[in-house]
Formats: sequence, structure tokens, C-alpha cells
Amino acid sequence: MTTDKKHHSEQESQSSKTKDDPITISELFSLAQRKLPKQIWDFYVSGSDEGYAVRRNNKAYDKLLIRPRVLRNVATVDTSTVLFGYRYPFPVGIAPTAMQKLIGGNGELDMARAAARIGTTMILSTQSTTTLEDVIQAPVEESAGGQHRPENFWFQIYVSVNREKSASLVRRAEAAGYKAIVLTVDTPILGNRINERKTPLVLPSHLHLANLEDPNDKPKVPRPTMNRLLMDARTAEDAYKLSQNNTSSATMNDASLTWSEAMDWLRSQTSLKIILKGIMTAEDALLAIEHGADAIVVSNHGGRQLDSVSSTIEALPEVVAAVRGRVPVILDGGIRRGSDVFKALALGADFTLIGRPSLWGLSHSGQGGVETVLHILEREFSRTMTLAGARKVGDIRRGMLGVEKKDAFGISRL
Ligand code: FNR
Ligand code: LAC
Repeated sequence: MTTDKKHHSEQESQSSKTKDDPITISELFSLAQRKLPKQIWDFYVSGSDEGYAVRRNNKAYDKLLIRPRVLRNVATVDTSTVLFGYRYPFPVGIAPTAMQKLIGGNGELDMARAAARIGTTMILSTQSTTTLEDVIQAPVEESAGGQHRPENFWFQIYVSVNREKSASLVRRAEAAGYKAIVLTVDTPILGNRINERKTPLVLPSHLHLANLEDPNDKPKVPRPTMNRLLMDARTAEDAYKLSQNNTSSATMNDASLTWSEAMDWLRSQTSLKIILKGIMTAEDALLAIEHGADAIVVSNHGGRQLDSVSSTIEALPEVVAAVRGRVPVILDGGIRRGSDVFKALALGADFTLIGRPSLWGLSHSGQGGVETVLHILEREFSRTMTLAGARKVGDIRRGMLGVEKKDAFGISRL
């Protein structure tokens, strides 16, 4: 065989080979479902009650159709965007999700290394299975040259009945180098998670809620947390008694909080940016601004709290209209494709977050799997921009979207 022919046949055999590497988020979803033990899978994938909000979060993007523009010199497309003075390679970060070591491997450490390598934000959950100090340190240790430092990680908290517990978390996050505190505001109690109630989730003995518990004090027989006990109360009386005893849980908000109490207290504890996560209405968006929030996350907690809510992408327009550009608006919930990111930006979001997709990546292959998820979204977003005629993020406008006409055939512009 001549060298040329050999080269040719090698190329042929390479191109006829089916690739095993996942190239869509939906593939990673199926692989994670096959790999994870049922109880763990159920915990991560589920919403509350009947799972209505989870389904709606995913499906609502299909109602939006892109109106592509052509011949606009899209030879180079710039997917980068600036938020709080920091330039992100593309507008996707990692939402806080609890107990990532349950997925396996190094959990939050892998998530952190992937986020830093890509140059995006990871929001660490209060309920992490790695300490907040170790999480922000991990990428620094990995990159001796300092190339993948976690420039812009944020820490998620609740304002607990035990204020000192929350205060100490805020102080630790600030000292460790987190750049913002994300206060999750949709969690005065946990939503009604049926799978968790049928098969209570307890952390295996080698794991613990690292920010909150001293591993040496961990009880020998694992106890469900207060919020899970409350979720499972069978009578009003039981629920009342439990809530009267709830003097320490730092994994849920004090249910008696009001706007001024929460915001005045948090502002008195930190000079970091305060981002409110879990806003779904124009009314609350306005209150958030009035009370000094630095940004808003339109979120329904991935459909895990109130089940009968709209999807987040449907709630976005009213929030954007109320905010009028005064603070950044971030969206999470159901982002599974680059075109979903495009649609969120077209409706006025400044940035988006992914929750579960990052977990499917983690389950697939740790740090590399999370990087794969982010690369998939970046490529899809860039491709969508190119095909829709948007050269830069600022070109993505509301007018590029349409919806089916209600009483006639065709498309209504948004
Ligand atoms: C969450 N979410 C969440 N939010 C938060 O503020 N603190 C937390 O500890 C958690 N934990 C958590 C665990 C799991 C398993 C899931 C799926 C979600 C909500 C999360 O930050 C985000 O709002 C949603 O996950 C976004 O929706 P998608 O991307 O999962 O559809
Ligand atoms: C959850 C909580 C921990 O959604 O935020 O599971």
C-alpha cells in the first residue's frame, strides 16, 4: 500500500467508527440514569409533588422559536459576556446543588476544578460534602501556574433560625475568597419530595455536610435533618411541634424572615455582593432591588419547591421588565441546550446557570465530565448564534424570537 492509500484507509476507518463520547446533554442524562443507584438518581432528578414544574421548566423552551437572520458576517462569533466586571467565555455557570459526593468521586472538588478550568462561576451549596475552603482551594492546587484560579466563585447560604451559624458561614466564605453570597429565598421549608419521603435520604457514613458538621461529632446512627423531618410530618400537630424545636438547622431559611430582616441582617454581615436566588415575580424583583440586592436569580429551585409554578423562562419576561436593567438578571431551570441559553438571553437574562446537567457530567467522568457538559453548551450556543445571525451576545435580541400565533397560522414576533 502506498503511504497515501494507507493514510486514506486510516481516515476511513476513523470516520466510520461510532463515537462513544457523549455529544449532547440528553445523552449524559441517560448515561447517568444507567450508572447511578436508583435512590441517588431519584434524589437528583426529581422535583416536588408530581414533577409538574420540572417538566414545564424543560418544555417551555420549545414554545420559543428563533427568527434567524442571515448574511451578517458571522465568520467569528464572540460568545463572551461580562458580569460584575468579570468576562466569562460564555454565559453559563454552575448552580448550587447539595451533596455532590453522592454522585461519586471527588464531588465538589471536581466541579470546582472544571468550573475554574473553563473560567466560569461555581456556586457552592451550603449543603456541600466538601468544606468551602477546600472547594475554592482545589483549582489553585491543580494549576501550579495559577492559570485556572477560581476567579469568581460564589457561596450559597440560608438565613437560618440560628443566625450565628449563617454568620459564620458568610465570614468563612468571605475569608476563603468567594466573591458573592447567594441567598436562596425560596426555601422556608422543603417542598414535598415524594421519593425522599418514601425512601429517606441519609448520607452514608463516609460523607458529611462538611461546612456544618464536625466529622468527629457525626452521630453513629445517621439522623434525618430537621428540614427532612418537617417535610415528612404527617399531621399539623407534628409539624408544629417540630418547627418549635427548629433552633439550629442551617440548611433552610428561618421561615419567619421578611424582606428587611433578611436583607438588613445579611448586609450587616458582609461587604460581598448579595444575589437573591428564587425570584419568580415582578413584585419580588422590585422588592429585591429596593432592599439592595446586587443581582437576581430567576429560579424555581429546579422544580423542587412549589410544584404549581410556571417555568422560569416564562417568569423571566416580567422580572426583566420590572428590573429595567438596574441589576443583572440570572436564570436557572431546564437549560439543556445552547439554544435554551440563547432564548434566555433574548428574553433579557444576563447569565444562566445549570444544575442537574453539571451533575450528569460529574457522574459520567468527574471533572472531565463537567468540562464536557460546559463544552457542549458552549459549542451549541456558539452554533446557535452563528446560524441565527448574532455575532456577539449583545446582538441577541427579543426580536429574534417568535411564538406560534394563537388564533391563526404563523408566528407572532415577541
Ligand atoms: C438543587 N438546588 C439547590 N439550590 C440551592 O440554592 N441550594 C441547594 O443546596 C440546592 N440543592 C439542589 C440539589 C439538587 C439535587 C438539585 C437538582 C437542585 C437548585 C439548583 O440550584 C437550581 O436552582 C436548579 O437545579 C436549576 O435547575 P436545573 O438546571 O437542574 O434544571
Ligand atoms: C434541595 C435542597 C437541598 O433542593 O436545596 O435538595
